[in-house]
Amino acid sequence: MISAKSIHRRLIVRLLAAWLAISLLIGGIVFFMKMRDVDEFVKNLTFNETRALLDDKKDYINSTNPKDLDTLKKMMAEHIMKGHFVLVELYDKSKNRIVDFDAKGSEDVENYIEKHKETHILSYKARYNRFYFEKNIYIQIFLPLYDKESNLIGHFEGVYRVDAKTTKDITRSIILSLLQVVAAMLAITIILYPIILSMDKDLIKLSRDLSEANVGMLETLGSAVAKRDSDTNAHNYRVTLYAVELAEAMGLDAGEIMSLIKGSFLHDIGKIAISDNILLKPGKLTEEEFSVMKTHVGHGYDIISKYNWLKDAGDVVKYHHEKYEGTGYLSKLKGGEIPLNARIFAIVDVFDALTSKRPYKEPFGYEKSMQIIEEGRGTHFDPQIVETFKKIAKKLYDTTSTGEEAFLEDTLHKFVKKYF
Ligand code: C2E
Ligand code: SIN
Ligand code: SIN
Ligand code: FE
Repeated sequence: MISAKSIHRRLIVRLLAAWLAISLLIGGIVFFMKMRDVDEFVKNLTFNETRALLDDKKDYINSTNPKDLDTLKKMMAEHIMKGHFVLVELYDKSKNRIVDFDAKGSEDVENYIEKHKETHILSYKARYNRFYFEKNIYIQIFLPLYDKESNLIGHFEGVYRVDAKTTKDITRSIILSLLQVVAAMLAITIILYPIILSMDKDLIKLSRDLSEANVGMLETLGSAVAKRDSDTNAHNYRVTLYAVELAEAMGLDAGEIMSLIKGSFLHDIGKIAISDNILLKPGKLTEEEFSVMKTHVGHGYDIISKYNWLKDAGDVVKYHHEKYEGTGYLSKLKGGEIPLNARIFAIVDVFDALTSKRPYKEPFGYEKSMQIIEEGRGTHFDPQIVETFKKIAKKLYDTTSTGEEAFLEDTLHKFVKKYF
């Protein structure tokens, strides 16, 4: 049975995993979009500053007067001291470098650029690179310069450092956006939890109701035949209890034991098709009568195989009268050909028939019953299973064979709860 606690745990683990995955996904998208904004923002900063830097200096670039060049250098140097550029280079139209200034204290970033970035790209198109170095955002810009008539008059190359405060603002805004994503997703997860939980509980209740209905039908069908045969359910309860105990002692898994419970309960359902004068005959059956009696396994299989939920009871219903040496009925299977559940059940079925009263016989005691089982070892029964059965038989006999129907029913319901 699925417990409420395990539903909670399973649901929480799944929701947390979903929350993490969605936070990562949406966080990634948000980060990507924010970085595009950052790019646009710092690019504009850089281009505006470049325009301010160059506006009043274009006329000097291609001047042949050395005084003009000096003036140009002085003006650029002044600007650099105040502004954000850490590095500027100016080329005339013949691509001669006429100005080359580094801001003080910018050696580290220059070395970094030398090693990792392209420099001196003198093309006809403006270009820029953004990079991040030692907690600062830098923009490297390559700009061709034109006069009013759109003639190329030179090139500018510069490295712009976004100031510490702006960088901090940008970083903070990115982190804030990511936190918002994570928090929003967490809020959704928390809201979803009770909704999913209640749906899950409904589903589990539904499946429990269905399972109860199936088990109820199992018991109803089983008692229908018991009523004709012996007018109590005790035989069905006992063989089922014996079968589960034996299967557990053999270490079968829960799925196999569930099938075994169904099969045990319904093993003789085919006796519904056997007439009273044979079924309830107080004495020994004639050969002819017994051959009719043998058909109960086939009838039983016909009855249960129509319902999917009962199909796995088929092994026990159809093969519980096979014998290990191949002389049983109806298929005359041998040894391991007989399904394991049927080999298990055959032992407990005979044990119960022996230790109980039948219309045709009085109950045998424990010793005599075990002696008959022992005689069938390797001929009627799987010898290995007999070995295991011998270890638990006395306990079963003492607790179960003389138990009241109500006690048996209670014990059985415990098993049903455990395996269905
Ligand atoms: P059942 O009464 O539930 O018996 C199940 C099985 O237990 C029998 O399968 C048989 O293998 C074993 N068994 C029962 N009583 C004895 C016994 O006194 N000695 C030994 N050695 N084994 C015993 P089986 O023989 O295939 O019988 C199937 C069903 O046919 C029985 O189910 C019972 O309903 C019926 N049946 C069998 N023999 C007679 C009989 O002589 N008279 C009547 N009226 N019915 C019988
Ligand atoms: C970058 O520009 O590569 C990173 C910016 C930041 O994390 O603040
Ligand atoms: C009986 O002994 O009365 C029935 C069991 C059998 O036929 O083997
Ligand atoms: Fe039977």
